Amino acid sequence: MISAVTLRTATLSRGLRREGGQTPERITAAVEGLDRITVDLQAVTADLRGLMGALAGDEIESGGLTGALSKLLVPLAESGVQVDISVGELGCDARVRSLIHRVVQELVRNVAKHAAARRVELTITQDRDEVRLALTDDGQGFDPAALGERQRRGHMGLLLVEQRVQDAGGTLQVTSTVGRGTKVVMRLPLAGPGVSGPLAR
Ligand SMILES: Nc1ncnc2c1ncn2[C@@H]1O[C@H](COP(=O)(O)OP(=O)(O)OP(=O)(O)O)[C@@H](O)[C@H]1O
Ligand SMILES: [Mg+2]
Repeated sequence: MISAVTLRTATLSRGLRREGGQTPERITAAVEGLDRITVDLQAVTADLRGLMGALAGDEIESGGLTGALSKLLVPLAESGVQVDISVGELGCDARVRSLIHRVVQELVRNVAKHAAARRVELTITQDRDEVRLALTDDGQGFDPAALGERQRRGHMGLLLVEQRVQDAGGTLQVTSTVGRGTKVVMRLPLAGPGVSGPLAR
């Protein structure tokens, strides 16, 4: 979103500097453009705040993850969506907990923004080798083939969390069909004995 805003401020400025650029119409359009930019920057600020909170880990210290995840789902539940959460025994470290929190934050936000769902289910399990997280909604779904175009228009939420998951050695799989809801599955391998990798201690 910051890159998109940068592009838009540069375009606005160029338009106004151009010879004869300061017509009343252009100035009105520039004011509207600035208002949109303000709204976007407020959203970025709110996101960063959430992210810093998650990174600081104050909410998601060991044992507190389930509570922190439930909190993320409160707005959906309050808007009338039926929310089911099942979080198994997790023995993962603070970095993994922070990643799980970040992924759920984005997925829940997407359900609230795009899905118009009646029901959402979050399941997290951990076995010896990996953490598996699945978030399913029964909303309107979307065509995954359209994702590239959405990203070019600055919709980067899923892409950014996918990159973070991949940096940690995991995968994020999005399955969606128009009219049939969306399912996102994250798999995160945990470092076993003798394994070195981003999650190894
Ligand atoms: N749960 C969902 N239900 C329906 N459509 C979805 C869902 N999640 C994502 N989408 C679709 O996938 C697109 C990409 O999602 P993504 O999170 O990358 O971007 P965004 O939410 O639109 O914007 P941003 O996350 O950058 O604020 C969305 O614009 C929306 O069309
Ligand atoms: Mg999003």
